[in-house]
Amino acid sequence: MSPPEVPVFARQRIDSLDVLEVSKEVDVFDDDDKLFLLERRAIFSKTWICVAHRSRFTKPGDYVAMELATFPIFIILGKDNIARAFHNVCRHRAYTVTKKTAGSSLVLGCKYHGWSYDTKGKLLKAPQFDGIDGFDKTQNSLFAIHTCTDKGGFIHVNLDAGLNLEPPSCASVVAFAAEHGIHARGSWITGWDLKGDFNWKVAAQQPISTLALQEAPSASSAAAAGLRAYLRLLVGSARKSAPKGANAGGSETPTSLNVSPITTLKMLPGSSLWLCITAFPLSAARTAVRCDVYSAASSFAPAPSQAQLEQLEQGVAAWVRGLESSYVVVESGPLSKQNEFLPMLREHLREERMRGVEIMPGSRREGRSVEFMKGEQVCKELEDLAGGGMPTACAVGGDGEKGGMEW
Ligand code: FES
Repeated sequence: MSPPEVPVFARQRIDSLDVLEVSKEVDVFDDDDKLFLLERRAIFSKTWICVAHRSRFTKPGDYVAMELATFPIFIILGKDNIARAFHNVCRHRAYTVTKKTAGSSLVLGCKYHGWSYDTKGKLLKAPQFDGIDGFDKTQNSLFAIHTCTDKGGFIHVNLDAGLNLEPPSCASVVAFAAEHGIHARGSWITGWDLKGDFNWKVAAQQPISTLALQEAPSASSAAAAGLRAYLRLLVGSARKSAPKGANAGGSETPTSLNVSPITTLKMLPGSSLWLCITAFPLSAARTAVRCDVYSAASSFAPAPSQAQLEQLEQGVAAWVRGLESSYVVVESGPLSKQNEFLPMLREHLREERMRGVEIMPGSRREGRSVEFMKGEQVCKELEDLAGGGMPTACAVGGDGEKGGMEW
């Protein structure tokens, strides 16, 4: 079923706002596309967001790319075993640096003109630019993103370009990790992506803990029987390795944690398996869902069978379908979760009104010498003469050829 012609969230927001004196604000809150752009500026460009877990990265060079509210970023593990995040935008002409959504490489080479970077984002090589007056490699590293790995191994990023940020509030997620024996050196088992026609806030309001994924599979299913046997194995393993109090008693009650704004952690009942589910907004009405399966068990545990993983995928897919349905029918329902974001949006709007311009906290600017720009122009003209067509530059707000990124 398609989303309603007039998205429901905008109308609900109008209803819930008690102070909207300025027509400009009304325009924003009455237009889902404008509202989404505001959310990108007011939430996703300056908020700490939990996007991954450290056990996703096992060796230096392991990286994962993602789009955070359409901002292309990637996280890579350095030789010092520290996970760092960067804008996935080449400093030459703003094309994507990583070649895959996940991989491993100690040197990331941009495929277009050969600029290459190390795991700390430092520019290693810039063919044709070495020796140009005014070209300083040290000034052309990848744009770093504030990154914090908490004690539970969860990786938080903040796109704000400011230097002095408050650290993320990790108390709840660290406590959740401690309670369930989740630590930075757990095991990543698998992960998958899917997309749905719903606004990302629906996922925040209806995290997967409310759905049936955690329920025991049907007894009539042979695969389900296999899964139960597997979970029993993991229970034994987890009981040996988990800290005191972790999942005590192998409770059948599922446990989950909503890590605002877009991530949900979900323990599978009676096991050391847990899911990290993140709803990455793509637009006002479409969201990409990333689901990763981990084991908190530190000792060896057998891998789930394909059938067991398919069951998990089906559970997540069913949740996404439910979100799509909710997005359509939620018009008359309460949207209490919105209240969490309204103050941020309104405060950001007020600040923009005071300054008279849109404020993009993640925006980066790069100063480049006249000599560099001349050299770059020569390169472009040579490419044009050679008929070398270039792909479209980074489409996500980037204006790399103008010397910066507008986010
Ligand atoms: S080397 Fe990356 S865009 Fe040219």
